[in-house]
Amino acid sequence: APPELQKRFEDTIARDQRIEPRDWMPDGYRKTLVRQVAQHAHSEIIGMQPEGEWITRAPSLRRKAILFAKVQDEAGHGLYLYSAAETLGVDRADLTERLLEGRQKYSSIFNYPTRNFADVGVIGWFVDGAAICNQVPLCRSSYGPYARAMVRICKEESFHQRQGYELLMTMMRGTDAQRAMVQDAVDRWWWPSLMMFGPPDDDSPNSARSMAWKIKRHSNDELRQRFVDMTVPQAEKLGVTLPDPDLRWNEDRGRYDFGTPDWSELKRVITGDGPCNEERMARRRAAHEEGAWVREAAAAHAAKQAARTQN
Ligand code: ACO
Repeated sequence: APPELQKRFEDTIARDQRIEPRDWMPDGYRKTLVRQVAQHAHSEIIGMQPEGEWITRAPSLRRKAILFAKVQDEAGHGLYLYSAAETLGVDRADLTERLLEGRQKYSSIFNYPTRNFADVGVIGWFVDGAAICNQVPLCRSSYGPYARAMVRICKEESFHQRQGYELLMTMMRGTDAQRAMVQDAVDRWWWPSLMMFGPPDDDSPNSARSMAWKIKRHSNDELRQRFVDMTVPQAEKLGVTLPDPDLRWNEDRGRYDFGTPDWSELKRVITGDGPCNEERMARRRAAHEEGAWVREAAAAHAAKQAARTQN
């Protein structure tokens, strides 16, 4: 690339301004963004499955309506993110193909099962809480379309987190059996939620470059720490224990110390060997195949419209 384009790109990043679709950008920057944004979009779509399973089994009409709206929001997030990815010159159909062939990833967290209705609450509280910690800084990501998509997504995620916490509060005011369901869900989701932030900093191959380009604003470990610091007081208020014997307040650091997640488990889940990987991908593949007629009909309609305006 001509040096003046390279310099303009670097100056834009240095001034904390945005890179926009028509601006020149290094190939590596484009590739990293396609990887992260596509992976993020796939996660939103696959993330509809664990909670979606509970829509027909929600305990009341009110809970059903809330859960329905929430799962639908996740579909919307996936769509804004695929649109953001397309501004980088890739095609959504191709990204979907890459996911189905196992050449692109989606978040590890959606490979765990939802065993009871308290899981819906804990997903809202932990998983959407973790998503907020990770995504609020992404509103300042250097790539304009990605950063702007994050603004709306974060507003909706914050509603999702509150609905989860409110659901759990309600269950905690209920019977002993309901309180036990909440504690059981907390025990199962805590460590996988910490793993959402990715591997530890010294084992995170993409972090240094993504942070230099200001695609990522904070390291995986920093965001994980923020999540722990935010969540511990909420757990106390709710009346549940987090399953970590090493969790304690560190006066000197002004933050919580906590135990080490099982990184070998994260590796296994990322490489396809989690409790529900096969099921999630099979469902995603079936949905794609069952939706083929809709895509064909939409394409035929668009072609007809285009032919009409030409005449
Ligand atoms: N699940 C699946 N894959 C992961 C996870 C995870 N929890 N954490 C890291 N990985 C993958 C990375 O994608 C990378 O693989 P790749 O090079 O093939 O893409 C590899 O493990 C090494 O990790 P890092 O070098 O740390 O990767 P990166 O700098 O991309 O950081 C992170 C990972 C933090 C997930 C980042 O991509 C990110 O912030 N993404 C946007 C948020 C997002 O995708 N959220 C989805 C779940 S939240 C929700 O949708 C409700």
